[in-house]
Amino acid sequence: MGKAYKRIKGFADMFPPQSDHFTRMEACAREIFGRYGFVELRTPLLEFTELFQRSIGEQTDVVQKEMYTFPDRKGRMLTLRPEATAGVMRAYIEAGLVNREAVSRLFTTGPMFRYERPQTGRMRQFHQINCECLGSPSPLADAELIIMLMRFLRALGLEEPSLKINSLGCSQCRPQFRKALLDFLSGIDRSALCEDCARRVESNPLRVLDCKQPTCRELTQNAPVLLEHNCPDCKAHFQTVLDCLAAEGIPLELDHRLVRGLDYYCRTTFEVVSGRIGAQTAIAGGGRYDGLVQSLGGPDVPGVGFACGMERLALLLGEARTDLTDFYLFAPDEAGQAQAFALAQQLRMAGLGGELNYSRASFKSLMRQAGKSGARYCLILGQDEAQAASVTVKHLERGQQQTIPQAEAITYLTTEKNDD
Ligand code: HAM
Repeated sequence: MGKAYKRIKGFADMFPPQSDHFTRMEACAREIFGRYGFVELRTPLLEFTELFQRSIGEQTDVVQKEMYTFPDRKGRMLTLRPEATAGVMRAYIEAGLVNREAVSRLFTTGPMFRYERPQTGRMRQFHQINCECLGSPSPLADAELIIMLMRFLRALGLEEPSLKINSLGCSQCRPQFRKALLDFLSGIDRSALCEDCARRVESNPLRVLDCKQPTCRELTQNAPVLLEHNCPDCKAHFQTVLDCLAAEGIPLELDHRLVRGLDYYCRTTFEVVSGRIGAQTAIAGGGRYDGLVQSLGGPDVPGVGFACGMERLALLLGEARTDLTDFYLFAPDEAGQAQAFALAQQLRMAGLGGELNYSRASFKSLMRQAGKSGARYCLILGQDEAQAASVTVKHLERGQQQTIPQAEAITYLTTEKNDD
């Protein structure tokens, strides 16, 4: 017997209903984001490692511990994208989009790769739906993007997720906050902090604020608050964002600890969280990143964006079947087989979807399979039906059944379907 291969840890095969959820999410994203002027950009999965180091930040967990990085055959260091933003920025600069349109709105979906410890909602290959709005410094761009994200989640049927928001300040005011934070952190016993935070005090102090460990949270309870250190421009920017969200009735929670794990953010940052998916609560995250394009060798173009985690959205969408079909057709006897075959083809030509069972299992077993199929109707073409050119149509949920001429099957199924 040959060797049985297994998939790589943290990489998943996706069957229905998850694959159906993904298809639906992508269609819904195209529809809703399209209304806001977003067009789709597809970027490569592989980029030069340096792009991620420079954009995401050398000191972030993503760059330090989580990237799939390897040399190609000529020794150039490449990385499987851990997120979409860096690649979108590179493409935006490389294509010279700045010269063609004042504001570019680009969305991207696809797999991302991070070497994290896998658990529910956390994979090594995962998928994001990612949006970037480039070219506008206006707080209205931040607000519209967040409103679009919340509308998208609602269109998927998710009402419960909540929005957390904060403002990180800008290159003018953040250094002062950082100094105040470092002063505060120098006053606490470093050995009482978790291993990650003890390290971050030096390398990335803002991240200490969003540590989830109870001891670290307690120790930093009285840490300086970002918003209070925002300069007047940053404060005004943030207030406009909040006002727009309030005007649209979007509930939110100000979260002073929200700093995000990637270095490129300034001003507005946000996350959407759900309590229903275990420890990995963030289903989307994003914010403004005004210096990023320039830091990657492009023009001084501001930007704001977000990404949703599709696996986490799929967990929220649950196990319910979404692939309900119109019919499940079978012919238990030889007599009905040819007619059943022809009828199945006609139904599909008429736009109806369903399965033809080719087997000659017992009637009971065929009925059982029909019940599990997720079809709306079971169609039975037995000996009597074959002789009369009829077919028995059973509504699988309601249980009622009727024998009708085969010639009327299309009309019957389409009319009934519309009545549902
Ligand atoms: P992020 O917060 O690192 O942001 O990721 C966004 C979302 O991707 C998370 O909220 C989560 O739902 C999902 N996600 C992240 N890691 C995993 C994982 N290992 N397994 C499953 N899902 C995961 C970014 O990536 C930014 N590029 C977002 C952005 C776009 N900011 C501005 N523009």
